[in-house]
Amino acid sequence: MDDSPLFIRPYHDKDLPQLRRITVESFGSVALEQMLEHKFGLWGGRDWKARKADHIDDDVAQCREGCFVAERGGEILGYITTRIDHTNARGRIPNIAVVESARGLGLGRRLIQHALDYMRAQGMKLAQIETMASNAIGQHLYPSCGFEEVARQVHYAMKL
Ligand SMILES: CC(C)(COP(=O)(O)OP(=O)(O)OC[C@H]1O[C@@H](n2cnc3c(N)ncnc32)[C@H](O)[C@@H]1OP(=O)(O)O)[C@@H](O)C(=O)NCCC(=O)NCCS
Repeated sequence: MDDSPLFIRPYHDKDLPQLRRITVESFGSVALEQMLEHKFGLWGGRDWKARKADHIDDDVAQCREGCFVAERGGEILGYITTRIDHTNARGRIPNIAVVESARGLGLGRRLIQHALDYMRAQGMKLAQIETMASNAIGQHLYPSCGFEEVARQVHYAMKL
């Protein structure tokens, strides 16, 4: 394994293609977008990968300063995005991913702590994150970072 230091830094525009790639590679089995495609097939000429990768463009467009990248030896190993709602003093983590080869080593936890520190520095008083009921890692990791389960949501969809 590369023994260069691993550090978390702010997002730069040049990272976007890699973050989109990591997103598509990481979210395969856990993305609502893929579940929709599995159930209804393709629609509108775009697949789940294109739609899911676009979520990162949205995150960057809405809160670029709240997007962070984990890098080692010039290679991006993961990222986390945040949204900051100053009116309600509430932060949210819309997306987090770690490349498969770097999972289970505490990087996801470090990214979450980094995002929470950023939210605190921005004056946020509450942090939110969501996960699918099928995402066992999320349901283990988020409570172990201090999040408490509040409610479960059901997603419905129909073809038009
Ligand atoms: C979620 C994700 C970012 C976590 O990254 P990571 O670097 O592996 O996270 P960490 O190593 O800090 O922690 C993972 C924890 O999950 C645990 N874990 C691993 N596999 C698990 C499983 N199948 N069921 C329950 N817990 C599991 C690990 O033991 C570890 O917990 P521990 O620190 O108490 O031992 C990564 O798995 C990922 O990119 N997943 C795909 C994308 C995704 O699901 N994003 C979140 C959507 S809500």
